[in-house]
Amino acid sequence: MLYLNLWRRPIKSSRKLIFEELLKSISSHVLSPDKKSILIKACIFDLDGVIVDTAHYHFLAWKRLADELGFELTEADNERLKGVSRMQSLDIVLELGGITVSEHNKFVLANKKNTWFVDYVERMAPEEIFPGVKHLIHELRSAGIKVALASSSKNAKTVVQLLHIQNEFDALVDGTMVANSKPHPEIFLLAASKLGVKPEECIVFEDAEAGVEAALAAGMKCVGVGSPLQLKAAHKVIAKTGEFKIREIANL
Ligand code: BG6
Ligand code: MG
Repeated sequence: MLYLNLWRRPIKSSRKLIFEELLKSISSHVLSPDKKSILIKACIFDLDGVIVDTAHYHFLAWKRLADELGFELTEADNERLKGVSRMQSLDIVLELGGITVSEHNKFVLANKKNTWFVDYVERMAPEEIFPGVKHLIHELRSAGIKVALASSSKNAKTVVQLLHIQNEFDALVDGTMVANSKPHPEIFLLAASKLGVKPEECIVFEDAEAGVEAALAAGMKCVGVGSPLQLKAAHKVIAKTGEFKIREIANL
């Protein structure tokens, strides 16, 4: 059980001592700004665009497919592809290009895009994990907060293994385990149930509009990672995941 006490911020000289004091205060008693106790037991991280820049590799692969199909896919178009499943992304890409194909050809195109994506990802180094992310996960777990990964990607396990972070999570949920893709809340509700916590005890970190929508639909708090304009529905928006400070939990 973890409470953050905003009113008992540690005042120590060295940064290390401040952090130790913060951890102590977390496990004691803390109040939210509206003076109601809040309880956060888990943080759930999206993968692509939150832990590593694989969102960019997804974009490159979809762009390559659009090029082959004879139209240009822009970064702005790509915002609609973030967070949603492979086949839903393909439907959006085809709609953007004004193209109709048979169900069989949809699978051919989706496989082609996936082959390119996997090719980019396999050349990725573990150092490509966003700065500060591992540190944040370690801080959260040291404070007794559970940490899960919830990604719509069916390649999530491969990416996590390539980054050597498979042991950093208490639970991992990916696109192979759910029937409904974000913005449906299923993936986050499944992550919470695997962690043994209630939805309202979770904070989700998301870079996709569909992901923010899913987190809110699940009854969770959401930290958007990226543009405040794009992710305005989130409780808070930060530019990069590693910027998040655990003392901010009480202010969400
Ligand atoms: C999400 C990405 O994490 O996974 C989407 O934000 C992607 O862009 C989706 O389409 C599915 O990924 P995959 O690896 O199963 O094709
Ligand atoms: Mg994402």
